[in-house]
Amino acid sequence: MAIRLGDIAPDFTVETTEGVVNFHEWLGDKWGILFSHPKDFTPVCTTELGSVARLKGEFDKRNVKPIAISVDSLESHQLWVPDINETQKVTLNYPIIADPERKVANLYDMIHPNANDNFTVRSVFVIGPDKKVKLTITYPASTGRNFDEILRVIDSLQLTAQYSVATPANWTNGQDVIIAPAIKDEEIAAKFPKGFTKVKPYLRYTPQPN
Ligand code: BEZ
Repeated sequence: MAIRLGDIAPDFTVETTEGVVNFHEWLGDKWGILFSHPKDFTPVCTTELGSVARLKGEFDKRNVKPIAISVDSLESHQLWVPDINETQKVTLNYPIIADPERKVANLYDMIHPNANDNFTVRSVFVIGPDKKVKLTITYPASTGRNFDEILRVIDSLQLTAQYSVATPANWTNGQDVIIAPAIKDEEIAAKFPKGFTKVKPYLRYTPQPN
């Protein structure tokens, strides 16, 4: 069954390029991003894995641990990593899960047979410190992901987990946010001392509170 927002991320124990990982234990109290790619030794995947390695400092700043997965073997991953490092000018700095038996791919419904039944599509799962799934995105094999967008969503998830706010379209970190409709006007001064702008009774902006 498909994984839905708010579900506990299924746990698993697997071989990775950084040794055996038990997912929940490996996450500890951090956020996680589990992302699948279709196949080792393919061009778009090579650029994606390089891109996440380059952004590792940004994930670290947000307390997020990235982990990649495909249904290739550990030997295949190990042969491919030097190509990623060479072509993307990085040193891979997070684990890639080997899932030749499709254990995790099936658990997370990453194989979409009407697209292709031989490999995982480009799934993304963001998991919170409570082990609950906070975000799912699915891209087709032919489209490489925008990991800056995934960082942007993580900024929003982390902010809205802390404050009674939502983030508007195309919001980026530092811009004004929307006060949750459940907050009454008379409660705003105490909760949002930076003030607010009321455009409509249901559309109230406040400067980013953190
Ligand atoms: C790629 O990563 O380039 C790719 C993988 C599978 C299908 C299409 C493209």
